[in-house]
Amino acid sequence: HQGGLSKSPPMGWNSWNTFRCDIDQTVVKETADAMVSSGMTDVGYEFVNIDDCWMADSRDTNGNLAPNPNTFPDGIDSLADHIHDQGQKLGVYSSAGTETCQGLPASIDNEFNDADTFASWGVNYLKYDNCGDHLGRSAWERFSTMSDALDQSGRDIVFSQCSWGSYDEWQWSWRHGGNLWRTTGDITHEGSWTSDDWTWGIMDIIDHADQNNTHIHANWGHWNDPDMLAVGNGGLSTSEERVHFGMWCLMAAPLFAGNDPRDMTQTEVDILTNQEVIDVNQDPAGVQGYKVRDDGDQEVWVKPVTNNNRVVALLNRSTSPTTILTTASEIGMPSADEYYLRDLWNHNDSYTSGSISATVQGHGIEMFRVEMNAGGEDTQPTQYLSDWHW
Ligand code: DGJ
Repeated sequence: HQGGLSKSPPMGWNSWNTFRCDIDQTVVKETADAMVSSGMTDVGYEFVNIDDCWMADSRDTNGNLAPNPNTFPDGIDSLADHIHDQGQKLGVYSSAGTETCQGLPASIDNEFNDADTFASWGVNYLKYDNCGDHLGRSAWERFSTMSDALDQSGRDIVFSQCSWGSYDEWQWSWRHGGNLWRTTGDITHEGSWTSDDWTWGIMDIIDHADQNNTHIHANWGHWNDPDMLAVGNGGLSTSEERVHFGMWCLMAAPLFAGNDPRDMTQTEVDILTNQEVIDVNQDPAGVQGYKVRDDGDQEVWVKPVTNNNRVVALLNRSTSPTTILTTASEIGMPSADEYYLRDLWNHNDSYTSGSISATVQGHGIEMFRVEMNAGGEDTQPTQYLSDWHW
């Protein structure tokens, strides 16, 4: 049931964080092109996703959703052709209520019709929001109806449930075929409880994952979504952006750039396209990382990866540089005489008999891939979780 889609966390771009409702077909096309020319596509950012505000003020005379004729005059299908021709995939947005969050037509009671429309346009991904009148129906009912509708459209369409963590959806969304589900409010949102800043945008979201043990619900095809990336959007320092990106990769989060790929600094590109950190996110074991130690401002997080190895993140939440120390045994590595450490941000190698430490700058992160058998004698891949539910 849709679960075979997005076996690893989906990667792409989404228009909302930068463009809000100021979006049109030219921006989307140029962004798709910039994703190719900047190297984003090469490292896996395949989806080009249009968020709210692509649709006309009302349904067409046949009752179908239609694109806004002023901003998307050539239609979503022609945009899809352009995007598919470049080997990319197209995502659109609707809401499980009478209106989108911006007051435009949405899909409740039109799920099957709308899913067919999306399929006929060649859409590959649907972000399904929680705004509008719910007509007294439960989230389960509203989101499973759209999941069924996508299935019956006959097209592979990734289903992204966006209900903001309102219903503990990490516990149930996968059961109706949610490939990903939002766990919190928006990472960047004027005048509300989150914004793309360190405390309320980044630390609050990772604490939410930790406090709710969301990691136990992530698995191939089904991911917790701590919201789209804010790298390059101005609210974070470079070191904070590394923490944000590194922790999203460690948490097996969907990676949706929320910047303007047509206009990126080299630092922004370097963070978003750090292949070694992306590999952590995309690791085929499909396990979401979790916290193993909390010393107040110093934290140790670990993500089990294939071959019974681990990726460890040393996170410094304070504003001054601090040395953070852990051990191979604390992060769950089998005992061995020697471990190989790959530094994923500084891109160098070292060896240790067990202790793993680094001086981490204020609001900073260091990440290491920790492996046994440095010579490359791989152990058997470990099956961490069964695949029984998809
Ligand atoms: C609320 C969602 O959480 C955001 O990500 C975005 O999709 C807006 N709605 C669009 O109105």
